Amino acid sequence: MKIGAYALPESNTAAVFVAPMAGITDRPFRRLARRYGAALAVSEMVSARPELRGSRKTLLRLDHAGEPGPVSVQIAGADPAMLAAAARFNVERGAQIIDINMGCPAKKVCNVSAGSALLADESLVARIVAAVVAAVDVPVTVKIRTGPSPERRNAVRIARIVEAAGAQMLAIHGRTRACMFEGEADYDTIAEVKARVAIPVIANGDIATPERAKAVLRRTGADGVMIGRAAQGRPWLFREITHYLATGERLAPPAPREMAAVLVEHLDGLYDLYGDEQGTRVARKHIGWTVRELPGGESLRSAVNGMTLAQAQRAAVNDYFERLAA
Ligand SMILES: Cc1cc2nc3c(=O)[nH]c(=O)nc-3n(C[C@H](O)[C@H](O)[C@H](O)COP(=O)(O)O)c2cc1C
Repeated sequence: MKIGAYALPESNTAAVFVAPMAGITDRPFRRLARRYGAALAVSEMVSARPELRGSRKTLLRLDHAGEPGPVSVQIAGADPAMLAAAARFNVERGAQIIDINMGCPAKKVCNVSAGSALLADESLVARIVAAVVAAVDVPVTVKIRTGPSPERRNAVRIARIVEAAGAQMLAIHGRTRACMFEGEADYDTIAEVKARVAIPVIANGDIATPERAKAVLRRTGADGVMIGRAAQGRPWLFREITHYLATGERLAPPAPREMAAVLVEHLDGLYDLYGDEQGTRVARKHIGWTVRELPGGESLRSAVNGMTLAQAQRAAVNDYFERLAA
């Protein structure tokens, strides 16, 4: 599969993406997901509003140092000219692909009618994509939901609009904006979209196992799958899925020592990017997700939640996995 000049790795003709998740898919997480086989890892969204460009949060999100390419940056906003300027700004800072967020139902985004709220205004969608495509020389991709509400599932029309405006790939979360995260993902609408556009279509929503990834690919005919929540605390999921798609075999989960090495590398990346105080705070959820189903995981989780020193948190995680391996 290609996005512009970038050929993405595939497993049995399908590409496996990690979904953009604000607060989670920062550079340390993206690096691990890529190493374990994710074909592309789009950054957490950055606002198109120029006054936010100097904020600490945006600056950290714009830091792509050492990140394997192609670097794809997601922008969020509702004003075509502002999004075009944001796209240019991010390309100047190393973005090699620009992704437009038309899928996020979060209040903060939708209050300014960005994210999935845009799906209700098809002419605005056309103007946004055309403006961003005209503003930069890199490929532009779009992430959508199936529509603003179950009564208005306009994903097929949106997909055709986005394609005509020059987007080179479309990722679809199989829920409407109104559905938030409730109910089952609707793969039939994704299948319909795939049948009606020529650009690559990536299916997203509720894919948590290799078997599900394969079933969704078969049902939708999509060119790839995108995994979000199921990869939290488990970046090796991309290895399990790509291996299964290529061979039909299930890989065993990683041994405690491998899990420990991955988690500690992830933590060190967080401490390095955010500093001790914020880094230990961000690390808590990742530690919690990793040990969620492991013996004694709950007591490690409560212990690290009180820690504000990187060294102490790293040592607690190492001790826990030493005991688990023994
Ligand atoms: C914590 C969290 C943050 C998210 N942030 C973004 C985001 O910044 N941009 C975006 O397009 N989607 C965002 N999403 C939506 C995911 O990319 C994805 O579409 C959704 O989680 C469904 O996939 P899943 O069932 O595999 O989790 C977010 C989801 C979660 C759970």
